[in-house]
Amino acid sequence: MILTNLQLFSESKKVIPSGVNSPVRYFEPYPFFTKNSNGAYIWDEENKKYIDFCNGYGALLLGHRRKEIIQAVSKQIARGTLYCTPTKSEIELSKLIIGNYPSIDKVRLVNTGGEATMTAIRLARGFTKKKKIIKFEGCYHGAHDSVLVKAGSGSAHNGISVSDGGLDEVSKNTLVVQYNNVQDLEQTLRKNKDVAGVIVEPVLANMGLILPTSNFLSEIRKITKENDIPLIFDEVVTGFRISSGGAQKHFRIRPDITTLGKALGNGFTIAAVGGRKEIMDLLSPGGKVYQASTFAGNPVSVSAAISSIKTINKIKNKLYSKLEKYTLRFTRSLDDMATDLKIPHQINSISSMFQIFFTTEPVVNYQTSKNADSKKFQKLFRSLLRQGIFIAPSQFEVVFLSDSHTSADLNRTLDAYEVALKSVKN
Ligand SMILES: Cc1ncc(COP(=O)(O)O)c(C=O)c1O
Repeated sequence: MILTNLQLFSESKKVIPSGVNSPVRYFEPYPFFTKNSNGAYIWDEENKKYIDFCNGYGALLLGHRRKEIIQAVSKQIARGTLYCTPTKSEIELSKLIIGNYPSIDKVRLVNTGGEATMTAIRLARGFTKKKKIIKFEGCYHGAHDSVLVKAGSGSAHNGISVSDGGLDEVSKNTLVVQYNNVQDLEQTLRKNKDVAGVIVEPVLANMGLILPTSNFLSEIRKITKENDIPLIFDEVVTGFRISSGGAQKHFRIRPDITTLGKALGNGFTIAAVGGRKEIMDLLSPGGKVYQASTFAGNPVSVSAAISSIKTINKIKNKLYSKLEKYTLRFTRSLDDMATDLKIPHQINSISSMFQIFFTTEPVVNYQTSKNADSKKFQKLFRSLLRQGIFIAPSQFEVVFLSDSHTSADLNRTLDAYEVALKSVKN
C-alpha cells in the first residue's frame, strides 16, 4: 500500500516534533517524503520525480549517489563502520584538506557544521583568553547559543533571534554587526576590547544569497589582523563549492580558522575545523580547549570525504567552469523572464549557487533580504514543486546546482520557472 505524503506527515507528526527532524524541512501545507535519489533527481513516496536543486542544502556538489563515493563507502563498510581509534585514512583526509586549504596547518574532524563552528569559537576564546565573538547579521553558523543571534536560514524564517531555552548569558557575548558594513565592525571593535574572534560566512548563503561587496572580506582581514583577533571563515556552505579551495581561494583571503562541512562529504555526515598550528594545537588532549566526539573521524564518513575531495581535485578544471556556466545561463534567462513579466526582482549568484528576490532594492544584507516579498517567493516555490522542481522551501536559502544537472535538466527547470514566475505575477 502506498501511503500519500499527507498520510505520512500525519503519522510523522505523532512521533516527531512538527513531523520533521530539522525546521527548514517543513513547508506548508506539508513536506513530501523522499524514498530514493540518484544523480540530479529525487523521488517521493508517491513516486513523483523532482529535479533537485536543494541538494542537501549544498552538500551534494557531485550529485546524489555519486559512483566514486558510493564505491569508496561500500568498500569501507565491508571493513567496519566505527573503530574509535585513530586510522590511516584520517591522516590521508587531513592531508587532502590541508592541500586544498593552505590557511590550514592542522585540522580536526567533527560531524556537523554546528560542531565545527562551536569548536572554532571555543578555540578563538582559548587562544585570546577573551570572551566576546563578533558575528554578522543574517549569517547562520549552526544551532548553538553563541551564534543563534540574528541568524539566518530557518531561524530567520521563523523570526527567532535567540531561541527559547538559549541562555542570554551566552548570547550577550555575541556582538552582531551588519554584513557588508566595515564601519560597523570598526565601531564595534572600538567600543569592545574583549573580542575573541570574528566569524563570518564569506558568502552569505543563509539569507538567500548575499555576496560580499568588493573590499568587505579583505577589510575584515585587515582589521582583525591589526587588532590581533582570529578571523573565522565559516565555509560550511562555500567550502569545495565556490572552488576546490572554497571562498578563501576565490577571494584570496587567509583566515586564521576555517570550518568546513556539507560538500566535504558529499552527503555523508562529516565536518572539520582547521587553522593555524598554534591555534589548533590548543585542542585537547594536548591543549586545554576541550572538544570530543564518539563519531568524529568515523571511517565511513572519512572514506566519503577522501573520495569526494579526490574526485573534485581530479575534475576541478571542468567542474567549476561548467557549474558557473550553467548558473549564468540560469540566472540570465531568469532575469529576462522576470523583466519581461515586469516583476521587480534581484538575482544574486556565484559559482553554483543563486537566489531570486522579489524586491526593487539590491540585496546586500539581512534587512534588504528581509524586505523582499517572501510571500511571492512561496508562490514561486509551490509552483515549481507542482512541476517537479525542488528548491529549498525558503527565501532565506539558496538554489544549488550539482555536477549531475544536465543541460536538459536546466531547460526543463527554466520552463518551470517561467510558469512559476507567471503565478507570482498573478
Ligand atoms: C554557513 C553554515 N555554517 C554552519 C552550519 C551548520 O551546519 P550543520 O547543519 O551541519 O550543523 C550551516 C548549516 O546550514 C551553515 O550554512
